[in-house]
Amino acid sequence: MRRFLLLVHRVPVDGEFTLNDLAGSGGRMDEVASVVGAAFVVSNALRRDTSLTLLLLQDPTRARRIRMEGARLKFLNPDERSTAALLKNALVRTWTRPEVEMETTPGIFVGPSGSLEEELRAFAALPGTCWATEEGSPLRASPLGPTGEAGIVLSDPWDPSVEERAVLERLGLPKIALGPRSLRASQCVVVLQNEMDLREAASSSSSP
Ligand SMILES: C[S@@+](CC[C@H](N)C(=O)[O-])C[C@H]1O[C@@H](n2cnc3c(N)ncnc32)[C@H](O)[C@@H]1O
Repeated sequence: MRRFLLLVHRVPVDGEFTLNDLAGSGGRMDEVASVVGAAFVVSNALRRDTSLTLLLLQDPTRARRIRMEGARLKFLNPDERSTAALLKNALVRTWTRPEVEMETTPGIFVGPSGSLEEELRAFAALPGTCWATEEGSPLRASPLGPTGEAGIVLSDPWDPSVEERAVLERLGLPKIALGPRSLRASQCVVVLQNEMDLREAASSSSSP
């Protein structure tokens, strides 16, 4: 299973943004939608072995979690605007009952987020969890992938805050770097999925 967790800092937690201004009042929802596409969409298919958790932290008192499960996912198209619409509708429809988790469309679960520490601790409880950061060790030397279990934490256009970094450091997640350049989060997900594809293909061709 491939798991991703994205820290989302400025997307309005109530879903009140216009699809015509995803990069502005949408708090860079365009990039979040792009991460969703990079995680799940391949040519004419969806990756069923992937899940993506979006932690919406714009309002810390009402932080929300969107969990997307590739195995059940429907109605996801390749373009950012329709993905943003899917997520916006999920947030808006559940806003009257933000305290319970609901499956708004197949494979999309919206619910309250625990504290950042609780969420990250739960995410990191499964094997193979790392933090993607420019300061990490080289991806190619990391054990990511061949076991089939991987979890990667990354951040949206804004790096983790001091408090968020402190939680990540406290959990002791191995840090991986994807190269010498600072990339967009969606580009990181493309690189990571490709690296895991290559490792899986190599390990299945070498197994008897
Ligand atoms: C757009 S970057 C954040 C801003 C970036 N640090 C900058 O200086 O513009 C979004 C996230 O992608 C991940 N990331 C970007 N480049 C990376 C790299 N070379 N290696 C590992 N992770 C990277 C990190 O999780 C980062 O927080």
